[in-house]
Amino acid sequence: MSDGKKLWGGRFKELADARFAAFNNSFKFDVRLFYVDVEASRAYCGALERAGVITSDEALAIRNGLRTIVDRAESDPASLAEADAEDIHSFIEARLVELIGDAGKKLHTGRSRNDQVATDFRLWIRNAIDSIKEHLHDTQTALVEFAEAHRAVVIPGYTHLQRAQPVLLAHWCLAYFEMLARDGNRLSEVRSRVNVLPLGSAALAGTSFKIDRDSLAGDLGFDSVSGNSLDAVSDRDFVIEFLSGCALVMTHLSRFAEDVILYCTTEFGFFELGDAVATGSSLMPQKKNPDSLELIRGKTGRVFGHLHAMLTTMKGLPLAYNKDMQEDKEAVFDSFDTVTACLEISSMVLRNLSVNAGRASVAALSGYMNATELADYLVRKGTPFREAHEVVGNVVMYALEQQKELHELRLEELTNFSRQISSDVFECLTLERTLSAKSVAGGTAPATVETALSEARRDLSERKK
Ligand code: ARG
Repeated sequence: MSDGKKLWGGRFKELADARFAAFNNSFKFDVRLFYVDVEASRAYCGALERAGVITSDEALAIRNGLRTIVDRAESDPASLAEADAEDIHSFIEARLVELIGDAGKKLHTGRSRNDQVATDFRLWIRNAIDSIKEHLHDTQTALVEFAEAHRAVVIPGYTHLQRAQPVLLAHWCLAYFEMLARDGNRLSEVRSRVNVLPLGSAALAGTSFKIDRDSLAGDLGFDSVSGNSLDAVSDRDFVIEFLSGCALVMTHLSRFAEDVILYCTTEFGFFELGDAVATGSSLMPQKKNPDSLELIRGKTGRVFGHLHAMLTTMKGLPLAYNKDMQEDKEAVFDSFDTVTACLEISSMVLRNLSVNAGRASVAALSGYMNATELADYLVRKGTPFREAHEVVGNVVMYALEQQKELHELRLEELTNFSRQISSDVFECLTLERTLSAKSVAGGTAPATVETALSEARRDLSERKK
């Protein structure tokens, strides 16, 4: 398209200032809507034909023209990158007119870029959700594989980052599996609200032509049509919901990254990061740095930023469309790219992570993580829990003074604190008992975790179908 020739040039005498045009133009980023714009235009062409606005010959010419535009873009991608256009919609329309002449000028009948862009963006986000769900599936698979490869490993579980109770490493993996499962479900719910057709709303008041919106929705795979034209062209809830879904994925990946970073430190020492996903220091020769995970944690901020930016952009807008909304594109594209890359790298980290089982089990056996077991033992012998808690607190204080773990104390030392303690106490202080006692649904008992792992496997293969 020649620079001066705008879609809306008729009532203008002068050209836009070049710097303003550069500020206004969205082509450099909304070119990513190329395919969905063509898809929506092809369907709209059918609607115009059914409404009797264009002849079947004109419709055929438009369809062929759109096909040629796609073919050219694919055979010469640079032509897209170099094009000088206001936005993707005007770019495609101008190409079409160049190719087929007058019929091309009819495609925009009864349509506005306002309902067009809302339709395109819903199509694009719908695909983005499907793609993110596939990546979530892969990261969940990597978590299950990692859990299965280290079935017997026990690590300390923490609250307040203080040793709390031992848990299976597989249980830790499945915690992240659950978070990502919710993320997938959440995005599916968002998708159901994304999948509503705005086209036919025109600029704001609805189109004057006999567009059959229901068949148009069917052609484009939308579940329903929007109920109010003013809302349809100015609603970006679906963008905000999508960004919010992305932000939660990032929250979960960031927590995962933080755990792995900690567990890779010399201080914890449970994991070692493979060379494929680590970096060195330019100065300190001994360093192996978890940059992969730090970047996942760090990039969480930009996705939160996009969500916040869109909430702020939308909050003061009068009905209906305002150009402010064009800001939604970069927020969504960058969030999608970031979430996709971070899911890929998370899977890669899991596939390049080794476990120091010895180090983990030493940690799991120390730090009085069986203290709750001792209290539960006393409860089973008839001591009320609150009293048992107090007694065990005293035992822990004594053991600390003696620099011993609870199971290292002698029976006489233990019975000093409660006459209800007898020799069977040692059995309940073992790591095995501490774990197997947690056999409640969702607990960390090995048999329960085994069941959870097979459920996770089943869930993954059902979703793959
Ligand atoms: N590039 C615009 C956007 O993303 C397309 C819609 C323009 N509509 C208009 N009335 N100027 O919002």
